[in-house]
Amino acid sequence: MLDLKTKSEYERRIKGVLITEEEIAREVKRAGAEIDKIYDGRPILLVSILKGSFVFLADICRAVSVPSEVAFMCAKSYYEGTVSSGVVKITMDLDMDISGYHVVIIEDIVDTGRTLSDIIRILSARNPLSMHVVTLLDKPSRRLVDFKADISLFTIPDRFVIGYGLDCGEYYRNLPYIAEYEE
Ligand code: IMP
Ligand code: MG
Repeated sequence: MLDLKTKSEYERRIKGVLITEEEIAREVKRAGAEIDKIYDGRPILLVSILKGSFVFLADICRAVSVPSEVAFMCAKSYYEGTVSSGVVKITMDLDMDISGYHVVIIEDIVDTGRTLSDIIRILSARNPLSMHVVTLLDKPSRRLVDFKADISLFTIPDRFVIGYGLDCGEYYRNLPYIAEYEE
């Protein structure tokens, strides 16, 4: 929880809109069509990495038309304010066997690349039929582990962002747009 004593302090930290609702909607539609094209009618399992991807998942699952199931997994990268500690922990695992599924991982942002490389290593060992990664945002300048998503909706500079599922101290996930955070 952030120490935000007043609503004006909460609002002051929303520095400015980086990606609008309209831009998000347009790119979600495009990504949905790309997923449909990859799987060509075959059923998929959308694996949402919580908490950050819950808003994106809700939109992307309605933008695909191949038959789809959804599943959730919770990964926590420990943060001191806006700085990552580098420790990634799976705090809630999938409750199903993914062998026999075409898995599509839905992530909010690829920053250092640690979370997704760990998740891919863990999930590949469970022998899915195939695996693709879709990320809403990509901050390639911050990469510490070599990692590239198959589909990335927006590439952003090295700024801490909030909204559309992304938080700072658990706040701001409900903003309908993506904004830069004011320290
Ligand atoms: P990575 O393991 O460094 O790639 O970071 C992954 C996680 O850090 C993401 O799934 C987010 O939860 C969080 N994260 C990284 N950058 C930001 C940001 O700018 N805003 C909010 N969360 C972020
Ligand atoms: Mg996340």
